[in-house]
Amino acid sequence: MTGAEFLETTRTAYDARAAEYSALFRDYLADKPLDRAVIDTFADLVRAADAGPIADLGCGPGHYTAYLHARGPAFGIDLSPRMIELARLEHPGIAFETGSMSALDLADGGVGGVFSHHSIIHTPPERLPEVFDEFARVLAPGGRLLLSFSATDDPAQPAEPYDHAVTPAYRWSTDLISGMLRERGVVETARVVFPGEQDERRGFPRVFLLAAKDVAGKDVAGQDAGPPRR
Ligand SMILES: C[S@@+](CC[C@H](N)C(=O)[O-])C[C@H]1O[C@@H](n2cnc3c(N)ncnc32)[C@H](O)[C@@H]1O
Repeated sequence: MTGAEFLETTRTAYDARAAEYSALFRDYLADKPLDRAVIDTFADLVRAADAGPIADLGCGPGHYTAYLHARGPAFGIDLSPRMIELARLEHPGIAFETGSMSALDLADGGVGGVFSHHSIIHTPPERLPEVFDEFARVLAPGGRLLLSFSATDDPAQPAEPYDHAVTPAYRWSTDLISGMLRERGVVETARVVFPGEQDERRGFPRVFLLAAKDVAGKDVAGQDAGPPRR
């Protein structure tokens, strides 16, 4: 796939299956207390930083946007017009717009949080830098990122394509992702890894990576774990 062809392929594929996707994942968080705890922590940190709303990028039908919006201002952006149509229908009162994570119509430093749940998985590895450039650009200093994706079995193992039910996808090296973000001033503060057997979808490890946009050069790594035990 060349150029931005993957965007058209992804958009068309999700347009075709938006209703099915929405029904399938509407209650996904209901029996996942640890997922909710991670997302709640992220929402708390964004609120504490008081640097702007949360942008849910690749929001799909908006289920996560609504969960976040119940905890503070949040809005959603997705490539698929059909997903956005469903999100608006199901969650009136929350702003949803079509757009690509690789070219966001958002001001520099305009958001206090970026949430991206299993949306980078369809971006070919050579196009991922554009997406992370945008995440770093739109995050305000002190802003927070919560990124979720399917990971390779070893955190250092490179990106790997896999068959996805909707459209081609990649699972990622957690260390590679963390390094790419750090290069852009968005520093990992914590990661939560669900081992393969707990990812009911495919048996791949599932990762939540929490990061903070550098605050005036301060190194925030490890900050979200709290002070070390003595
Ligand atoms: C696996 S779904 C996840 C949806 C939602 N985040 C969730 O977890 O329920 C992936 C979503 O990412 C969107 N997406 C993929 N690439 C995108 C891009 N470059 N910009 C915006 N949205 C994108 C797709 O349209 C799709 O809705």
